[in-house]
Amino acid sequence: MAPRVLKVEGLRKRYGTTEALKGVDLTVERGELVGLLGPNGAGKSTLVKIACGLVNATGGTASIDGALGYLAELFRFPDWATADEVLTLHQDLARSDGGAQERSRLLETVGLGGESGRRVGTMSKGMQQRLGLAQAMIGRPAILLLDEPTSALDPAGRRLVRDVLEGLRADGVAVLLNSHLLSEVELVCDRVAIIAHGELVAAGTPGELSTAGGVEVETADGTRNWPDATRDDVPRIVRELVEAGEQVYGVRVLRSTLEDAYLEAVGE
Ligand SMILES: Nc1ncnc2c1ncn2[C@@H]1O[C@H](COP(=O)(O)OP(=O)(O)OP(=O)(O)O)[C@@H](O)[C@H]1O
Ligand SMILES: [Mg+2]
Repeated sequence: MAPRVLKVEGLRKRYGTTEALKGVDLTVERGELVGLLGPNGAGKSTLVKIACGLVNATGGTASIDGALGYLAELFRFPDWATADEVLTLHQDLARSDGGAQERSRLLETVGLGGESGRRVGTMSKGMQQRLGLAQAMIGRPAILLLDEPTSALDPAGRRLVRDVLEGLRADGVAVLLNSHLLSEVELVCDRVAIIAHGELVAAGTPGELSTAGGVEVETADGTRNWPDATRDDVPRIVRELVEAGEQVYGVRVLRSTLEDAYLEAVGE
């Protein structure tokens, strides 16, 4: 079994009378990309902040094996700082000795090559978010905790971040990704955990969470549905149609999306 880089056990957090986390268990292994999903206020950011040591748990534990990189949900770098200065500051904080080479490599990785002298105050939101991702990767952490890292990004930027995350996974880095973008999570994550009202309500691979959704056949008479059929039923369905003299133009095995599974799990 791959080593666990993040281990969350029975994690609880109370803010005054609000129970933000009610005993959550979660693990992320080396080289694994895990999506943490849930409605607004579910406790996702709280879990990540506890794992970073920014917030104290009320009960349970969250332990990280190795160095961590963190991109906060609501972050703000100083307007006057250049991209290079922001990364230099974080190299100092992370005690990274990567120097100018690490900074330019990371800026290149997030599509900001050639922008090292640009001031944060002149950057678009999406550029700032990509700078934030570069900052989180300083010092080659064992795990990245990314709290909605693509919320400000355009489709090309999201694709870029997805490619970066896949590169990290290939390098054995663990990633916990908070997101509301289910299609993105479905594309990139190995495993998904869904929390609602501070409790884990579903977990598994995107494939495990999205269930069979029937079979659709396109014939000369139009599209026909077999809602309870699975892939195994396709040969029989096609044979029966052909024997009945129908023309078959296409067959689709349908699956519910992660979005369907999510909405069911959170009860909406
Ligand atoms: N510092 C705080 N003081 C009091 N309550 C807080 C604090 N931080 C979070 N909460 C509450 O804890 C609960 C969980 O919040 P959290 O930010 O972890 O949710 P989230 O899942 O990240 O939501 P979102 O999708 O909106 O980012 C919410 O009810 C929130 O109002
Ligand atoms: Mg949040």
